[in-house]
Amino acid sequence: MGKMDQVFEKLKEVIEPTTGKDIVSLGLVKDVAIEGNKVTFVLSVPMGANADELRKAARHALLQIDGIDIVSIQIEGKKKIEPPKLRLTDESGKGKILGVKHIFAIGSGKGGVGKSTVAANVAISLKQLGYKVGLFDGDIYGPSIPKMFGLEGMIPRVENDKMLPVERYGVKVLSIGLMIEEDTPIIWRGPLVHKAYQQFFFDADWGDLDFLVVDFPPGTGDPQISAIQLVNLSGAVVVTTPQEVALADVRKAIRMFQKMSVDVVGVVENMSYFRCPKCGHVSRIFGEGGGEELKKEMGVELLGEIPIEPLIVKSGDTGVPVTAYDPESEASKAFRKIAARIAEKIEMKAKSVL
Ligand SMILES: Nc1ncnc2c1ncn2[C@@H]1O[C@H](COP(=O)(O)OP(=O)(O)O)[C@@H](O)[C@H]1O
Ligand SMILES: [Mg+2]
Repeated sequence: MGKMDQVFEKLKEVIEPTTGKDIVSLGLVKDVAIEGNKVTFVLSVPMGANADELRKAARHALLQIDGIDIVSIQIEGKKKIEPPKLRLTDESGKGKILGVKHIFAIGSGKGGVGKSTVAANVAISLKQLGYKVGLFDGDIYGPSIPKMFGLEGMIPRVENDKMLPVERYGVKVLSIGLMIEEDTPIIWRGPLVHKAYQQFFFDADWGDLDFLVVDFPPGTGDPQISAIQLVNLSGAVVVTTPQEVALADVRKAIRMFQKMSVDVVGVVENMSYFRCPKCGHVSRIFGEGGGEELKKEMGVELLGEIPIEPLIVKSGDTGVPVTAYDPESEASKAFRKIAARIAEKIEMKAKSVL
């Protein structure tokens, strides 16, 4: 085998951890030259990867070749996108987003229960209560926040190699839906999900925030695990509807968060009841007492009940969430009460830790 072949063989043993692939297959190796006992090449480092580690691993691999004593690697590309001050770690060793005080997630056992509706309206309510708020659409499989916020077609600007969230209703928003064509299917494998979350957390300029709200996809999969590993979640809010099927799934979601030491701030029961706009009569169409039952059974707080609200359905099409459209509606007041309670609990817990 020629020297050049040996060099490539060895470089193929160097794995880029965020993708799990070797640096040669990823096309990160360029301009390889051998001169006597010296190898030189250019290594382009992808967003989110650790340049020093890759360089070290590549050097180590090449020095194993007989007759190679000097390895000179030039790092190229996007290395600068990670100024170290934004990748601080906190006491737990997890990433800290400078300027962001608290991060909490909105989760659910299953889809369609109104998780994104709750995330959007809780974010706007927190803003109305005077907090600085960001909303990260973590539902990378089915991003719905851009439509709810009327942001379709808007593309986040990049400044100093950082994505700038798009601002609407006073909330800073980022979503994969702002970067891809609508209805483009993406196959998200675990490592890619992790990388996407990493970029949305750390390669974005969130500025100063009191709360960063994360809208999770339904269930308990890779995205939830990635977020929990990457940042210190102050807590999770779980959304359910009163039906028994939804409650069975929400138990699973609560247990997962508890198992992974994420504080469950409480449960929001969505589509709890319908109030007749004419006579004011309340009907509990989907059953009742589910939230109360969860409280007894699992010790989680019932943060509030959101009524079935035709304005909410409409707002999905118009891009104006109910809390922005009509802040004094019954649903908006319910969201505001829930948002205030979430803020109170998270801030209280943060103080008790200090
Ligand atoms: N309280 C509510 N009243 C009426 N419709 C609602 C309510 N909450 C959610 N919806 C509707 O239910 C559908 C699913 O909501 P969404 O927030 O997208 O759920 P998820 O994020 O859990 O999949 C949407 O069409 C939304 O407008
Ligand atoms: Mg959703």
